[in-house]
Amino acid sequence: MASDKQPLRIGLIGFGCVGQGFYDILQQHPGLGLTVASIAVKNPDKPRPLSADRFTYHADELLNDPTLDVLVEVIDDAAEAFRLVSAALRQGRRVVTANKAMLARHLPELLQLEQQHGGVLLYEAAVCGSIPIIRTLDAYFSHEPLRSVRGIFNGSSNYVLTRMSEEGSDYATALAEAQALGFAETDPSLDMGAFDPRSKAVILAAHAYGVLLNPDDVLNLGIEAVGAADIAYAAARGQKVKVVASLQRLPNGRVAALVTPQLLGPESPLFTVEHEFNGVVVEGEYAGPQFLRGRGAGGHPTGSAVLADVLALRRGLRYGYTKQAAAPAVQPAENLSLDVYLRHADAGVLREVLTWLEMPATALHTDVHGVHASGVVPLLRLLQWRDELRANGVFVARRGEVQAGVAAVAEPLQAEALA
Ligand SMILES: NC(=O)c1ccc[n+]([C@@H]2O[C@H](COP(=O)([O-])OP(=O)(O)OC[C@H]3O[C@@H](n4cnc5c(N)ncnc54)[C@H](OP(=O)(O)O)[C@@H]3O)[C@@H](O)[C@H]2O)c1
Repeated sequence: MASDKQPLRIGLIGFGCVGQGFYDILQQHPGLGLTVASIAVKNPDKPRPLSADRFTYHADELLNDPTLDVLVEVIDDAAEAFRLVSAALRQGRRVVTANKAMLARHLPELLQLEQQHGGVLLYEAAVCGSIPIIRTLDAYFSHEPLRSVRGIFNGSSNYVLTRMSEEGSDYATALAEAQALGFAETDPSLDMGAFDPRSKAVILAAHAYGVLLNPDDVLNLGIEAVGAADIAYAAARGQKVKVVASLQRLPNGRVAALVTPQLLGPESPLFTVEHEFNGVVVEGEYAGPQFLRGRGAGGHPTGSAVLADVLALRRGLRYGYTKQAAAPAVQPAENLSLDVYLRHADAGVLREVLTWLEMPATALHTDVHGVHASGVVPLLRLLQWRDELRANGVFVARRGEVQAGVAAVAEPLQAEALA
C-alpha cells in the first residue's frame, strides 16, 4: 500500500547532469528514506565523483533486480531509454523519466503498457525542468477546459536570444556559452531547431487536451538563422524574439499546436522570461490566465522535479489523463494560417521563399538591415517547406497566434511603417 514514509530503493540509470543533480539533492536529505541502491552508466573510463564500485555499465542489471522499488531513467539516448522504460513497464514497475524526446515519440505505447501491466510512469522533469506544469495540467486542471497553453519551453534557445538582445552577442558566441553552462542538449540542434520544445508541447497536449499528437505533424521552426537584424527588427517595435510553443483551442473546438519564434511585446508575461528560464501561461476557461516561471534546465532544478516524482510515486500518484475520454480533434494544418515575418540576407532566396509560401511579391520590404518579408501564410506551406526553410537559413517568426482559415489577407501592419 502507498505510504509517504515507506523507504524506497532506487535504481538510477544515467549519472550525468540530471542524475547527479538528483543524487546530490538526496544526499542533502537523508531523512526522506530514499536510497540510491544502484547506478547504471555507459562509459567505464569516465572519471566519477563516487567510487567505481557504485556503478554498473549494464542498465539491464537494474531491470533484473527485483529489490529496486523505483527506476529513475535519466540517460541521453532516446532509443535506449524507450527500450529500458518500456521493459520496466512490462514488468509493472514504477518508473520516473526525464526523456522528453522518447516520451513525445512513444507516449501512446507507454500509456498502454502502464495500464496493461499496472506500473506507473511519471515524467515531470521532461517538461520545463523545475516548473510543475504536468501535474498542474493533469490534476489541478483535470476538468477545466483550457483556451490555451503557451510557453517558452527551451532554456538554451532562450538563453541565446537573451544574450543576443541584451548584450548584442552574436549567435555562435551565445550558443557556445549556453553549451559551456550545460543548458544545451548533447545535440544543440534539438534546442536551436525547436525539436526539444516541440517534444514538450506534444507531452503537454496529452494532459491539457487529452490529445496524442505525432511530433512530425507539429510545426517547429527554430532560431538557427536568427541574426542581429531580426533582434533589431523586434526591438524597433518594442518586441523581443522568443521561441514560443502554443497549444490553442480554436473557435471550432479543435486544438492547434506549433512551436516557432514569435515577436512578443511586453503585454505577454513571456516577454520577461530571460536566459535559461522557462515560462508557461495557462489560460483556463474559468480560472483565466495563470503564469508559471522557473528554471527549465540544469542538474538541481531538473533533479528537484525527479525527486518530486519519486515522492509522488510513493504516495500512490499516477497521472489521470482525464481529458483523453473526450479529447477534441486536432485541427489539420490545411485550415490554418499564420502571420509571419521572414528574413534572408539574399533577396533572391527570399523571393523564392515567397513562392513556396504563396505570398505575394508585395510582401517583400527593405529596411536598413536588408530585405525581409511579412504577411499571412497557410500553415500547411510552412509545414511542407519546413526542412527547406531550415536548410536555406531563412529566419521565420510569427507575429501572432494561429488563425483558423487560409483566406486571410495580411493587414498592412502599422509596425511596417517603422521598417
Ligand atoms: N540537462 C538538463 O537540464 C535536462 C533537463 C530536462 C530533461 N533532461 C533530460 O534528461 C535526460 C538526461 O539528460 P542529462 O543532461 O543528464 O544528460 P547527460 O549529462 O549527457 O548524461 C547522460 C547520462 O546517461 C548515461 N547513459 C547514456 N546511455 C546510457 C546507457 N545506455 N546506459 C546507461 N547509462 C547511459 C551517461 O553515461 P556516461 O556518464 O557513462 O556517459 C550519462 O551518465 C535526457 O533525456 C534529457 O533530455 C535534461
